[in-house]
Amino acid sequence: MTILVAGAAGNIGAELTKSLLADGHPVRALSRSGRGVPAGVDVVAGDLNDRASLAPAFAGVEAAYLMAGYPDMPGVLADLRAAGARRVVLLSTGAVVGGDLDNYVVRFNVVSEAAVRDSGLSWTVLRPSGFMSNALQWIPQLRAGNVVTEPFADVPIATIDPLDIAAVAALALTGDGHDRRSYRLTGPAAILPADRIRILGAVLDRDLRLVPESDGHARRRMTAEMPADIADAFFQFFRRGGYDDAIVDDTATRLLGRPPRTFTDWARDHAAAFQ
Ligand SMILES: NC(=O)c1ccc[n+]([C@@H]2O[C@H](COP(=O)([O-])OP(=O)(O)OC[C@H]3O[C@@H](n4cnc5c(N)ncnc54)[C@H](OP(=O)(O)O)[C@@H]3O)[C@@H](O)[C@H]2O)c1
Repeated sequence: MTILVAGAAGNIGAELTKSLLADGHPVRALSRSGRGVPAGVDVVAGDLNDRASLAPAFAGVEAAYLMAGYPDMPGVLADLRAAGARRVVLLSTGAVVGGDLDNYVVRFNVVSEAAVRDSGLSWTVLRPSGFMSNALQWIPQLRAGNVVTEPFADVPIATIDPLDIAAVAALALTGDGHDRRSYRLTGPAAILPADRIRILGAVLDRDLRLVPESDGHARRRMTAEMPADIADAFFQFFRRGGYDDAIVDDTATRLLGRPPRTFTDWARDHAAAFQ
């Protein structure tokens, strides 16, 4: 039973690949470049933006982990099913819960969730909170000094370790009882960016400090760095009340049989990335 992992070099995909391999499952990694995919896994090239390119990756696959937001999700899922797959696990976002369909990020996730539900495959949707691994974006600033400038610094988030999302994905891909389920997944506590930088500083034994980025500066910077629709989505989430990502949910604890990992756990495991 081969399991396909899309984004196998990514935050969730890499953890999922390692976990499935460790449990003895045959894994195939879908990647455009192959760079950063964990060792010991069969890598097949394919682009989720290009349905026709996926045939080699889908051949002989029993189950697949996919990310949301690609343009022809119904077509991709039809091809996956036609290739013989029975099960799909989709990475969506908690922002879909009560989310505004005018928000670009909400919309692309809602559309992908609907495609999965209509695919005829057994499906599980994962709706995580913000990832602890977003702190990796601080690396350039922390190579330059001890100060991190962060937007939305007053917004608490129940951030989750990608390892926990991957652990739930592994359960849904290989276990029973997860068909037609949407799981809201959060970390153990809502914490502010300043809490995260304090914890990271303690783990790295450095005197780190967070400086809030003004909304005006954040708007200009984000509009330069990403499509305007995505920058707008974050302002709708965190400045116009579109997404309360601070609510702690116990679904991860229930599924994993243990509490979700703390930011301290994540920071200890990833300290080397900041050195
Ligand atoms: N960050 C958050 O707080 C957060 C919260 C909720 C949901 N999400 C969702 O999480 C997803 C990202 O997950 P992640 O952080 O695990 O991923 P990631 O670290 O951003 O990596 C994604 C991987 O997907 C592969 N990829 C990108 N485009 C592809 C394409 N067109 N076809 C095939 N593979 C492609 C890339 O590998 P190759 O270049 O090798 O192909 C990349 O390694 C996004 O959909 C985001 O909306 C994020």
